Amino acid sequence: MGRLSVNLCGIELDNPLIPASGSFGYGYEFAELYDINMLGTFSFKGTTKEPRFGNPTPRIAEAPSGMLNSVGLQNPGVEKVIAEELPKLRNCFHKPVMANISGFSVEDYAYTAGLLDREEQVGWLEVNVSCPNVHGGGMAFGTDPAAAARVTEAVKKVTTKPLIIKLSPNVTDIAAIARACEEAGADGLSLINTLLSMRIDLKTRKPILANTMGGLSGPAVFPVALRMVYQVSQAVKIPVIGMGGVSTAEDVIEMMLAGATAVGIGAANLTDPYICRDIIHELPETMERYGIENLRDIIGGAKNG
Ligand code: SIN
Repeated sequence: MGRLSVNLCGIELDNPLIPASGSFGYGYEFAELYDINMLGTFSFKGTTKEPRFGNPTPRIAEAPSGMLNSVGLQNPGVEKVIAEELPKLRNCFHKPVMANISGFSVEDYAYTAGLLDREEQVGWLEVNVSCPNVHGGGMAFGTDPAAAARVTEAVKKVTTKPLIIKLSPNVTDIAAIARACEEAGADGLSLINTLLSMRIDLKTRKPILANTMGGLSGPAVFPVALRMVYQVSQAVKIPVIGMGGVSTAEDVIEMMLAGATAVGIGAANLTDPYICRDIIHELPETMERYGIENLRDIIGGAKNG
């Protein structure tokens, strides 16, 4: 066991870094830049039952210390992901990967999860009940404890792999949703997805995003994410993947002190595709600076008084 290693739902990771879904494609695109086997793992692009073209453009808007996206779950559909994307990934990534799944009904989630569960390279299923950019699904399941529990139960029935539910920050009590997912059989939780947000173009007086609203991510959301990771990890016993605005080795350590077992990196991959590689290199020296021997020892270590 190395100084950076952590255990996520029974699977050992060399380090806690996980490029977040939607910021790392299906992985092989980044393998052209560096050896992605140095990552803990990564979560691949949100995959749905049917192919999706996504939302109309513009889908991206800027914000101070962050960005808004309203991609709308663009992806080729689960059958094509299995037939075309995963074989390409197998050539360059030799660790278990996290399969990110979205849906528009409980049956959709279960169908997609059932197919991906059979893939040997899939180590964990990450079920997204928190996409703010689609109607009739996505976040609708993640803002109501009963609906989040229904999705969790349905997916749990079709998988033998650890099941992680990705939570929305666009709720008043994230701990209640977290507890409902844990009780329904979730093996882990990941949070936060993006914060529902909006920008307006002063010249046209129209919303910048064609979909009007989108999800805010980037350093601006880090303190909000940290607070929610802290609250959720106090409320449940299952491991938490903390994400939201993480962009430095110090942020990784802060997330772990708040209670994260592993740490997702999202928007930062879009501004610097080497960011995960560089953070992994910087972690040992940063740990020295703060007197940390092993990263796994600091999980949930932040206490007042
Ligand atoms: C999107 O595809 O709209 C982003 C995915 C998400 O925020 O869950």
